[in-house]
Amino acid sequence: MNQIKITSIVLALTLFLANCSSTSRFYTPAEINTSATVSLADLNQGKALLMEKCGDCHRIPAPRKHDAAGWVETLKKMQVEAKISDEQRELIYKYLTSERI
Ligand code: HEC
Repeated sequence: MNQIKITSIVLALTLFLANCSSTSRFYTPAEINTSATVSLADLNQGKALLMEKCGDCHRIPAPRKHDAAGWVETLKKMQVEAKISDEQRELIYKYLTSERI
């Protein structure tokens, strides 16, 4: 009897944790996120750059933190901090502003 209880608690906990990790703050780029000027390759590169360049000094910021105008402003400042090229900044911008909710 007890064994069954413990098993179901462990199972519930596992499902709960699995669910948490799948609702990530960072979306996985898909066709729906692309546009005439934003390709899937751009978005994948942008996400990789965000993960690589933007987490040294603070938590990696989530796309939903700013709207497009806000990201233009923030990325101007953070380009200097992260020492990235204009092209890298543009790719990160594309990833940050292409989430479809
Ligand atoms: C060398 C350290 C450093 C790196 C690397 C860095 N940041 Fe920052 N970031 C800071 C500091 C310091 C602040 C707080 C001062 C400020 O707001 O200007 C900050 C603040 C922020 C904020 C909150 C303020 C706002 O305008 O919303 C965001 C969002 C942000 N950074 C995004 C980024 C992104 C995106 C990258 C990668 C391109 C990045 N940061 C890389 C140092 C860094």
